[in-house]
Formats: sequence, structure tokens, C-alpha cells
Amino acid sequence: MKAAVVYGPNDLRIEERPMPQITAADDVLVKIRAVGVCGSDIHMLAGENPFAKFPRVMGHEMVGEVVEFGEGVHDLEPGDHIVIEPITYSGKSYAVRRGMPNVSEDLKVNGVHVDGGQQEYLVIKNIQAHKIRKDIPWTTAVLAEPYTIAGQSSTRGQVGAADRVFIHGAGPIGIALTRICKVKGATVMVSDVVDDKLEFAKASGADVVVNPAKDDIVQAVSEWTDGEMANIVIDAACLPQTFQKSFDLVSVAGTIVVLGMNETPVPIAQKPFMAKQLTVVGSRLQAFQFDPIIRLLEQGVIGDDGLVTHVIPFEKVQEGINLMHEHPEQVKKLVLTFED
Ligand SMILES: NC(=O)c1ccc[n+]([C@@H]2O[C@H](COP(=O)([O-])OP(=O)(O)OC[C@H]3O[C@@H](n4cnc5c(N)ncnc54)[C@H](O)[C@@H]3O)[C@@H](O)[C@H]2O)c1
Repeated sequence: MKAAVVYGPNDLRIEERPMPQITAADDVLVKIRAVGVCGSDIHMLAGENPFAKFPRVMGHEMVGEVVEFGEGVHDLEPGDHIVIEPITYSGKSYAVRRGMPNVSEDLKVNGVHVDGGQQEYLVIKNIQAHKIRKDIPWTTAVLAEPYTIAGQSSTRGQVGAADRVFIHGAGPIGIALTRICKVKGATVMVSDVVDDKLEFAKASGADVVVNPAKDDIVQAVSEWTDGEMANIVIDAACLPQTFQKSFDLVSVAGTIVVLGMNETPVPIAQKPFMAKQLTVVGSRLQAFQFDPIIRLLEQGVIGDDGLVTHVIPFEKVQEGINLMHEHPEQVKKLVLTFED
């Protein structure tokens, strides 16, 4: 079978690899049908992911068809369409006992710590397989993973119908967040420095949009909320300045949700934490979000709706990544597909 293997920074090769084999009772062999390319794949290919060891097959937004499985699997049939949850963990750590397996000390992420979906076949654990209805197009099903990031971060922020939510950034994650926060009934303001992205945010349900390169966003949020400010601020731009600005945008008793992995420190005074009695939470990957997100996709409550802009054969992954570098304004979500 063919696989796209990263051997080191900017060294991606399509090569022949042996078919993966089932070796454990809970193994499932999957024929990969589509893989989404995420910004973090680009960072990894550039050698900027400290968790990754080369050689590695990238791809954590994965969907495919069940081929066969070990004798311990009783809930799947050959031919089932599945979305693959890209994380595994042993189940014994403190994080798991606290209901947060996504930050388990022994967490393994496909495409980062272990091989991912940019290959024709992959063996996963049964617990990673989530069935999805066969009439959902592969290029829509593959959006389940980014939607789970939105499910997780909005859950961490406890977004509800009475809340006014401010989202920094209208990339794929900011757009998924906008749609999920609307499903949860919230009123949403989205910021981005690119006007076209703000147009798409509006088309995706944002009630109000603002461009921080042109407008004072603190004033805009104050006017939008009659001075109350945003009850929940979710940072899907993940820059030092957006993290810092969040403390000025959030209301009393509010929550800031942090998704970024930027390591640049920014000064934050103690007073806003205390005076506003803020909650600041991190959000990493997801826990238990796949099934609810897949149900929303199956019901048509969320979907593609313009998010997938480019679909190419997986062998052309390097060309797709080049396009993402050269024309970021054109590519919202790039999806790699595999022949029958
Ligand atoms: N914690 C997690 O589990 C998790 C998962 C996925 C992605 N992420 C992170 O979330 C972020 C968003 O992911 P994405 O794929 O949408 O990335 P992206 O780069 O496509 O989107 C970021 C958006 O922020 C906008 N932006 C830039 N400066 C801004 C500013 N000052 N104010 C507002 N917007 C600004 C950009 O124009 C862009 O549209 C990335 O940093 C990614 O690493 C975190």
C-alpha cells in the first residue's frame, strides 16, 4: 500500500509500505477514504511539533471503511463507514480518572506520536471507531474531527443559550466554533484580520463580526453587549496578543478558553482574575465529542457548507500543502481522498 511518510523537516515522500496487520483482539483494519489537512500538519512538516518523531505518517482527521477486525470486536461490520478518533490512552492515569483522557500522560495521537491517516490502510483500536451513516459524503464526514475541537472548547467554556461568546479567529476552528456555539443557542461575535474570513463567519452564523486591524475590538464588544462584555471568550487565533486581549474582552464571572500552544509569555495582571472572578481554561483535542458531533452531522445541523474548498488525491499531498502556504486565502479545508 502507499503511504505519505515524513522523514524530517520538509521531507515528505510517497512510498510503498507493507499492509498493516491485525495483531490484537481489538484491532480494526480500515481502508482510509479521506483525510483532512490541518494547520498543525503544516507545522509538523516544518519540524515544529515537539511531540513528533520522524519518520511519521501525518493525518489526524480521518474517515474510512472497515475491512476486518480482531475477535474482540462485536460492534462493527466489514464495509461500515467510520470516523476515526485520533487518540488512544491506557485508562489508568489521573487525567482519565478526572474524565479528561485527552490530556492523559500516556496519550498517543495519530499523525503525531503514532502514524496517522495519510496512507491507504491503517490499523486502529476498536475504541477509536465511530460509525457514521453511509450517505454522509466522505468529504463531510472528515470534518467531524475539527468539529470535535469546537465541541470540546465550547464545552470547556460551558457555552449556553444565554451567553454572548467572542471568538478570536475565523480559520476552520473559528468557523466550526461559530457553528457549534450557534447550535448551543449562544449569540456570537467573531474577529479576524481578513475581511473575506469575516464574510464566511457571517455566512456560518456569526451574529456580529469585527476586524481588529481596523476597529477597536474592546469598544466593539462593549457596544455589542451594552457594556457587559463577552461572557465567554474563545481564542481560535492563538496569538500572544489575542490571549492577552481576552482579559479586556471578557465580562465579570466570565470564562476564557485557551486553545493555543504558543510559548511566548504575555504579562497578565492579577486584578482582572480577582475583580471579575474569571475562569480561564485550557482546551486540548477533545474527550467524548465524536458521537454528539457525528449525530449533528447526520441530522444536517452542521456540515460542510463551504468549509471544504479543495479535494485532491492523497498522493498530491505536497502540492496541496504548497497551495496552503502560497494561497492561504484560497484554502479553508484541504481534503485528501483515496481511490477505490
Ligand atoms: N487546542 C486544540 O485542541 C487545538 C486544535 C486545533 C487547532 N488548534 C489551534 O487553533 C488555532 C486555529 O486553528 P485553525 O486551523 O483555524 O488556524 P488558522 O491559522 O486557519 O486560523 C487562524 C485565524 O486567525 C486569524 N487571525 C490572525 N490574527 C488575528 C487577530 N489578531 N485577531 C483575530 N484573528 C486573527 C487568521 O487570519 C486566521 O483566519 C491554531 O492556532 C491551532 O493551532 C488548537
